[in-house]
Amino acid sequence: MAKKSIGTIIVSEDNTPNPTEFSFVLTKPEEEFRLNKGMYIVVPTDQGEVIGTISELFKTNRYFSSPSAVRAYETSGKTLASIFPSDRWEHIIAKAKTLGIITEIGIQRLLFPVSPGDTVFTPEKNTLVNFLGLEKTNGLNIGKIEQHDLDVHLNLTRLLQKHAAILAISGAGKSYTVSVLLEELLSRKAEQGRVAVVLFDVHGEYIGFGDGKSPFSKVVNVFPGALVQFATPAITPRQFAVYEPQITPAQSRELYRTTSKFYKEKIKQGESYDIADIIAELEKDEQINQRSKEALVGWLYNLESTRLFGSAENPSLQEIIQPGKIVIFDLSDFTSIKLKQMIVYYILTRIFNMRKKSEIPPTTIILEESHQFAPEARQELAISKSIVETIAREGRKFFTSLVLVSQRPVKLSTTALSQCNTHIIMKVLNPYDLDFIGRSSEGIDRATLNSITTLGVGEAIIVGNAVNHPIFVKVRKRKIKTLETQTLEESAINYET
Ligand SMILES: Nc1ncnc2c1ncn2[C@@H]1O[C@H](COP(=O)(O)OP(=O)(O)O)[C@@H](O)[C@H]1O
Ligand SMILES: [Mg+2]
Repeated sequence: MAKKSIGTIIVSEDNTPNPTEFSFVLTKPEEEFRLNKGMYIVVPTDQGEVIGTISELFKTNRYFSSPSAVRAYETSGKTLASIFPSDRWEHIIAKAKTLGIITEIGIQRLLFPVSPGDTVFTPEKNTLVNFLGLEKTNGLNIGKIEQHDLDVHLNLTRLLQKHAAILAISGAGKSYTVSVLLEELLSRKAEQGRVAVVLFDVHGEYIGFGDGKSPFSKVVNVFPGALVQFATPAITPRQFAVYEPQITPAQSRELYRTTSKFYKEKIKQGESYDIADIIAELEKDEQINQRSKEALVGWLYNLESTRLFGSAENPSLQEIIQPGKIVIFDLSDFTSIKLKQMIVYYILTRIFNMRKKSEIPPTTIILEESHQFAPEARQELAISKSIVETIAREGRKFFTSLVLVSQRPVKLSTTALSQCNTHIIMKVLNPYDLDFIGRSSEGIDRATLNSITTLGVGEAIIVGNAVNHPIFVKVRKRKIKTLETQTLEESAINYET
């Protein structure tokens, strides 16, 4: 889009132009531009290009500005328009908010007003890309700013290093947006820099990525939750107490004695052990207080009954977490939230520890229904909460990033959410959630917040670190076809045939 002049700045009764606002009258026929609220505009000045957005549009006509005159003419039997060339006096006035100025030394806040008489232009695409902090081609193409037909390529580091959250009611398009992001992440070439992705699929809606007909099948590893096995030797006594919080510090010490013994006797000899071995060892231990032993063995039996604690890790996380590839843990068969949390806790703890030692590539973790894994309330029931919060706080140093997806932001850990420096906000209706988003999303103003309730499916506001200013994006159509959900008819037909 080349720069086109559209209007001229006027002096307006509301004390504009001032450094934050100005008004302009449209000088070109309306049909040439389809001017919209929210559109970006540019005013070239001596110091640089001032960028603004249109906050209000209205029509005025001075022939109709006096109610008594209008009434007098209209009651006399003649219309005003039949006597005066009133239609030629209709103007469109646009109010604009200034966002900043692109000067030789970079983008700055505007401290001076633009001048009455200055010409207003539509921006060139490059100007917008630069001003909004987007990438030209190398970023993640999530969709378009429709009014400017501008492809939005988000910078990988800016979006992911300091974590992102995707927040909206169900059906707004959160998971769809995640799959668009996945397509972008999985399409990157090694020289562009690619992360490994780990996704927890609580509804089994991403399995299609690994389908034989999917263009991504070679870089996708779908792993059924039921087959996940933790490496018991990798679990410290303290971590056992996270899985089974009733384990007391004294019991943890007993556990430590056993696992240290196993370390010397088994691990060093290249053997392994599982929970059943720990239980058997504790049972024959004479030194432990009998009641304490019974309780501890009881908790360990509980853990064993989950069938998650094996002698070796499955899948081997270090082997399957690879750059440009995604591991999808399909947790859709689990009804127990506790089991899902245990899996998330184990895998996230392992990822974070391996990242600290650079044993795996920079990794992005996508957590659907994240309020279930890191809830604000009921700390003691959410096994995975502590590790989600730890990665939220410390992950950036180790290039371990989180994408938290949730339809109930109010219920999501504020510690975790406050570390998500980019928010992709789609339709939200609940006033508590809206209020919460207003308080937790940096740089979101009242007008933007109000528009969240009116967003359509697939429409998003992106605020925070990934962009210099909040932007409205229409999330693009995904390319992958193997994710399409069935209609009710298709599902019924499939059932019968
Ligand atoms: N960007 C989009 N383009 C086209 N259709 C979309 C888009 N986003 C969402 N949809 C449609 O809306 C439906 C619900 O989206 P989904 O991502 O499952 O919502 P959520 O995860 O927020 O509950 C999808 O099945 C899809 O048909
Ligand atoms: Mg979803």
